[in-house]
Amino acid sequence: MPKRLALAAAVTLLALPFSVAASAADGSAPTATKVAAEAKPYKVEGGKVDPGTYNGYRRYGESCMRCHGPDGAGSSYAPDLTDSLKHMDYDTFAETVINGRKNVNTANNNVMPSFGTTEDVANYLDDIYGYLKARSDGAIGRGRPQRIGD
Ligand code: HEC
Repeated sequence: MPKRLALAAAVTLLALPFSVAASAADGSAPTATKVAAEAKPYKVEGGKVDPGTYNGYRRYGESCMRCHGPDGAGSSYAPDLTDSLKHMDYDTFAETVINGRKNVNTANNNVMPSFGTTEDVANYLDDIYGYLKARSDGAIGRGRPQRIGD
């Protein structure tokens, strides 16, 4: 019977990533699994970025910057996301942004809001992740990036 147990455990493990991807896809972000499989979710050529990464920069500025600071670099209120993405995988990132998070361990009660129903964010999760990952990898610097072809 240990063989059957091992199989059951393997099936459970396999099912996990899919459930995470499915919850991320709720806000119709259909490419969740695609991005997770790619090594680099952005393209940088001569310091310029692809349209998705540029879009991510814009979306970040509209929805995240007021708490996480310019260029993803963090603030006294919310963590440095260029640092977070050095360790955090795409699925965890997506889960956090879609469902939000509340830090109950500090006196500050800092809250990461849920963006599951915010279409401007949920529909462009891949682009926001790509932009922050490019920042995190040091592939682009601070400030507004230029688009490839501009
Ligand atoms: C209202 C302020 C606020 C806004 C707006 C906000 N965040 Fe957050 N975010 C936080 C706080 C505070 C935390 C830390 C929560 C905790 O410690 O549990 C956090 C945590 C996170 C984390 C986890 C970081 C880690 O290292 O564990 C990610 C990822 C994240 N935010 C991404 C985003 C993205 C992407 C956006 C824009 C779509 C965004 N946040 C918008 C306040 C905000």
